[in-house]
Amino acid sequence: FLIRHTETYFNVEDRIGGDPDLTGRGIEQASALARFFRNKKIPYIFTSEKSRTVQTAELIKTFQDDCTVVPLKEFNEIHAGICEGMTYDDIQRGMPDVYSARKADKYNYIYPGGEGYATMKERIQIGIKKAFYLNRRPDNIMIIGHRAVNRMILSHFLYRREEDVPYIYVPQDKFYHIVATQDKKVFELKKYA
Ligand code: F6P
Repeated sequence: FLIRHTETYFNVEDRIGGDPDLTGRGIEQASALARFFRNKKIPYIFTSEKSRTVQTAELIKTFQDDCTVVPLKEFNEIHAGICEGMTYDDIQRGMPDVYSARKADKYNYIYPGGEGYATMKERIQIGIKKAFYLNRRPDNIMIIGHRAVNRMILSHFLYRREEDVPYIYVPQDKFYHIVATQDKKVFELKKYA
């Protein structure tokens, strides 16, 4: 189950990066996720080290009998360098060069002092390996990540052209259910409330 953290104070303002908390609505969304997953066994929830993913996971954990939340640095959101904490409007107005260069090649663009989709690829792959190793049993595996992180995780399981990866739809009111066996791969975008 590939989930994006629920609504934060930065999401409301369209602000990127940082370490914001969930809003009241975000807490309600995470509680709805908890209710949705209460009858499914989730032994581990892998998150990033950011409060918003851990807060979402802790709420899901409250309805589970045996569940451990494991924050992994590999799943931290793309680091926007000098743009951390800004809105997309701020960037467009204050740093038009950054805005247009990213728009021209979003996958390969690296924020000054930060990261890009291409440079996140290796750490995301390490995170996926760690999660699958730690989960070990053939149980459900749940990852709670971020918009850019989840795009990279999805593209690990489902081939996408690099230029399309930064535009994959990653909403907060739905999650991706990925079933991958030797014979088939199924990707479903499901509503949880
Ligand atoms: O929710 C906002 C966010 O996760 C930011 O922290 C991050 O910079 C951004 O989304 C990634 O999305 P995009 O690559 O489309 O800007």
